[in-house]
Amino acid sequence: MKFTLRIWRQRSPEHRGRLVDYPIEISPDASFLEMLDVLNEHLAGIGEEPIAFDHDCREGICGMCSLVIDGAPHGPEQATTTCQLHMRKFADGRTITVEPWRAGAFPVVKDLVVDRSAFDEIIRAGGYITAPTGTAPEAHSIPVPKPDADRAFQAAECIGCGACVAACPNGSGMLFTAAKATHLALLPQGQPERYTRAAGMIAAHDALGFGGCTNTGECTAACPKEIPQDVIGRLNRDLLRVARHPGA
Ligand code: SF4
Ligand code: FES
Repeated sequence: MKFTLRIWRQRSPEHRGRLVDYPIEISPDASFLEMLDVLNEHLAGIGEEPIAFDHDCREGICGMCSLVIDGAPHGPEQATTTCQLHMRKFADGRTITVEPWRAGAFPVVKDLVVDRSAFDEIIRAGGYITAPTGTAPEAHSIPVPKPDADRAFQAAECIGCGACVAACPNGSGMLFTAAKATHLALLPQGQPERYTRAAGMIAAHDALGFGGCTNTGECTAACPKEIPQDVIGRLNRDLLRVARHPGA
């Protein structure tokens, strides 16, 4: 297959970026990232700077890959990470535009790489439980209702990729924040810090420059793990309780 890749090149946060065209010929079975590997080998061979892009597992589980492909975070296919996207999904001969995540809280580092450490700050503000160390408790010692366990596991599928932020017209990180808060808030182990966690994570979210949620739903549509939008409503209910009963 033949494509023209129109790729965002930016030497550093201080430099202005621009879109550069690269022709490429590639197998339909190549993944999007394998195609970039081939292009980078070619660029290195002719003495040009390879294109910087994030990746790690290439199995859809780490959340590192992060490309806006033809305007869609992770590309046109639903519920897929960039690393799991294959070139056979694109029409032969077309031009494909490749950009980094676009969001105020995710500044561009270089080319297609953005700084997503703002997500780490949100987790640091409450995305954990405090538990005594020691041997692991017996698995059945704390019963968890099946519906709660299912919802908690669904929320815990969030891989922290940031596509929800890139897709949101407000640059909101609410789907990520709510997924992380929800998977703890639905389990017994998450109850002691449930409300301080919600307040702390949202305070960090807002301070880090993420926008507010206006229920556009673009986040859920772009999410490779199909995290449902109702986790945001659940987090908001916890926040409301904190507002009504501060210190409770
Ligand atoms: S909620 Fe979905 S899109 Fe957002 S960080 Fe988690 S996995 Fe990625
Ligand atoms: S590289 Fe790990 S999810 Fe894509």
